Amino acid sequence: MMNKSDAIPPLEELAAILGTRGFSRDPDDMAPWLTDWRQRYQGRALAMVSPATLAEVVAVVRFAAAHRLPIVPQGGNTSMVAGAVPDDSGRALLLSMRRMNKIRSIRQADNAMVVEAGVILTHVHEAALEVGLRFPLSLGAKGSATIGGLVSTNAGGTQVLRFGPMRALVLGIEAVLPDGSVIESLASLRKDNRGYDLRQLLCGAEGTLGVVTAVTLRLVPVLRQRVVAWVGLDSPQAALDLLRRLEQRLGDSVEGFELVPDIALELVLRHIPGTRAPLATDCPWYVLVECGAVTAGDELQMAFGAVLEDEINAGRVTDAMIAANGAQAEALWHLRDSISEAERHDGTAAKHDVSVAVSDMPRFVMEAAAAVEQRFPGVRVIAFGHLGDGNVHFNVRAALGADSQAWLVREGHDVTAFVDDLVVKAGGSLSAEHGIGQIKLAEFARISEPARLNMLRAIKQALDPHGIMNPGKLLPLAPEDSIP
Ligand code: MLT
Ligand code: ZN
Repeated sequence: MMNKSDAIPPLEELAAILGTRGFSRDPDDMAPWLTDWRQRYQGRALAMVSPATLAEVVAVVRFAAAHRLPIVPQGGNTSMVAGAVPDDSGRALLLSMRRMNKIRSIRQADNAMVVEAGVILTHVHEAALEVGLRFPLSLGAKGSATIGGLVSTNAGGTQVLRFGPMRALVLGIEAVLPDGSVIESLASLRKDNRGYDLRQLLCGAEGTLGVVTAVTLRLVPVLRQRVVAWVGLDSPQAALDLLRRLEQRLGDSVEGFELVPDIALELVLRHIPGTRAPLATDCPWYVLVECGAVTAGDELQMAFGAVLEDEINAGRVTDAMIAANGAQAEALWHLRDSISEAERHDGTAAKHDVSVAVSDMPRFVMEAAAAVEQRFPGVRVIAFGHLGDGNVHFNVRAALGADSQAWLVREGHDVTAFVDDLVVKAGGSLSAEHGIGQIKLAEFARISEPARLNMLRAIKQALDPHGIMNPGKLLPLAPEDSIP
């Protein structure tokens, strides 16, 4: 682990390398980046460094390694688990990757794009579309989340169903390791059997093994038909049954399948300006479905409409609307993508990002919600999200009218332990897509099998023996370790 030292390192050396745009100790510059998105953690930093090139990142890491300074890499700072803010020791270099924002190349013949870590997801979408291709990963924070952050958290989002999470879309990687050496592996190799998959090791490492500086992303053909629909039904089980029937009749064209409970829609309609309910009928559950095809025509819309009609006639779907144009489709996605924001306006919550086997999720949602509401009378469960991936955001809110902050301090820990125990019993994971960060560290340690934690710690120790890379995230400390 790092040696604690109060000596201020020669930061002027770093400032000289990075120039005025790349180095700041101004509290006003740093302030917005020292608090996490959920505003649960407030950190401090020695300086904020914003390199614009790979060589500058190498210089920062070498400097940090020489002086045993913690480095906290940060992209858009939209981590849901406080994975990208420093602790309050004031010793860390906050490494903003936002100036490394070039799209280096688009290799159309390889269906691949090489982008730097600071590129914002929306810009990747736009650049791919310009050459008639598509980057098929999206999420609510797409206007601020950066590729480096998305890779480092193995982000999922709302379109994982067909093309997988970030791990499935990273074909190559360039990263600066904790000793300042560079792993340069951006070739878009479909096959590469040189032992351990180092690229995958860095995906989802939450910046604890090195700094991802660029990646090669997989692109797919652009959609020529797109159907987006909002469907009302009775239960999560009815929703999953609908997904399976859609797959049987429409093949692998289903790209998004998002579960929305009525309580989540109500929060969005109350807090997000300009939103309105898509259906005339109130239903306990909704799904937002997106299907796509690369061929031109209207067969997908027709086939989708026929499935819905059959489902309504069979009484398995209560009501549904298919977006008539792109604007309506975006309005439906806006409802779904605004759930977290709407929840935030409504006060704080105990948030859980859980996965179980897809077929078990409908029962898990119902039974876990009932168990939580019985054990903690008055609380409200909002379980929403990626049903098709077996992943929901199982958020527990304070009773109506209660002070949510005080409730969270009082009961949040017990609620989370209760939910996580249910997840373990169901054979699931306490972090499906948000990572561990700081928020889940204690629970990760409590419920994980020792072999898992030991493997993670062994890898960390081998690659980052001085513990400078994003310390205090992802890896629960072994009992013999102490915080530097
Ligand atoms: C989502 O699916 O909306 C995001 O993962 C954010 C969240 O969990 O609140
Ligand atoms: Zn999500």
